[in-house]
Amino acid sequence: MNRIRVGIIGAGRIGRVHAQSIAFGIPEAEIVAISDPFIENAERAARDFAIPAIYPDYHAILNDPTIQAVLICSPTNTHADIAMEAARAGKHIFCEKPVDQTVSKILETKKLVEENAVKMQIGFNRRFDHNFRKIKKLRDDGTLGEIQIIRITSRDPEPPSPEYAKTSGGMFLDMTIHDFDMACYQANSEVDEVYAMGAVTVDPEIGKAGDIDTAIVTLKFKNGAMAVIDNCRKAVYGYDQRVEVFGTNGAAASENDRETMVKISSKDAVCEDKPLFFFLERYMQSFRDEIKSFINAILNDRPVEVNIDDGLRPILIAIAANKSMKENRPVKISEVMEG
Ligand SMILES: NC(=O)c1ccc[n+]([C@@H]2O[C@H](COP(=O)([O-])OP(=O)(O)OC[C@H]3O[C@@H](n4cnc5c(N)ncnc54)[C@H](O)[C@@H]3O)[C@@H](O)[C@H]2O)c1
Repeated sequence: MNRIRVGIIGAGRIGRVHAQSIAFGIPEAEIVAISDPFIENAERAARDFAIPAIYPDYHAILNDPTIQAVLICSPTNTHADIAMEAARAGKHIFCEKPVDQTVSKILETKKLVEENAVKMQIGFNRRFDHNFRKIKKLRDDGTLGEIQIIRITSRDPEPPSPEYAKTSGGMFLDMTIHDFDMACYQANSEVDEVYAMGAVTVDPEIGKAGDIDTAIVTLKFKNGAMAVIDNCRKAVYGYDQRVEVFGTNGAAASENDRETMVKISSKDAVCEDKPLFFFLERYMQSFRDEIKSFINAILNDRPVEVNIDDGLRPILIAIAANKSMKENRPVKISEVMEG
């Protein structure tokens, strides 16, 4: 079988997730090297997933002519620079979200990807989630009619540290970005206007670090649909990930995935399992399927399913949401476009 030779850049949490998917679930690809300046992380991944080469510096991966594709799993502030170097080196690129927190750098990356005719897929894994895909299919085949309202609930089981909040770019760019992408995916339209409210209701230290931990964002799409997203960094009952799409012919809604679907009824209460704990538990199938899709796009020379324009759209929405919250008014996407 023709297998795609892959190098992974970054052996932290998400680098390990993708390494696991390929090692145990994607026979069409093989990981030939992994790099991380924190070499113990690379060593551990190499041991766990039988990766033959480890490097402290990712340039060794870019300089290996036998490697066809790279997965960029390093911290956010390195993504665009590494992606541009990878494009110049002629590697196909899978890049974790976000590509960058600025529009200009994403556009620069897009230009290089196009000039070097490589593929670049962005890590919006939730598009590959089994529930959300089914809703999208019902939307696309007309079952739901004209889409009127999209509701997204996205709450984490526990907040990040205030230190993380300081460097993450803020909740809209770090967390809500997935929900902005999901809203666009389901609406199949461009966002026209954003109205955002935010608050600190979980951890005052997150507020002191300059971020929020709770938010409501409404989006107005050019095709007339509207979306409402609610976010919180802490839900005591676990990771709450639900989507509903409502249209002129009906609605489709997904409940949280749970470990079992068993319901226990007693004289006091009716109980069921809590939602799966967090993103590693809830979204593992989608993480595997997004990499499978990337590898198949290379093997069959087809367009990737989540391209760099899909990577840019949620950044513009997040920038507009920050402006809206600060100025306490609806903000048009056209106000935050550059150039
Ligand atoms: N799609 C998702 O749901 C999802 C989930 C988690 C993280 N992410 C994204 O993935 C990225 C990494 O997040 P994480 O949680 O894995 O972080 P992490 O801190 O666990 O891992 C990052 C790793 O990159 C390494 N690193 C730093 N600089 C590097 C370089 N120049 N070259 C190679 N490796 C380098 C670090 O030593 C660390 O081991 C972030 O951009 C984050 O937004 C996406």
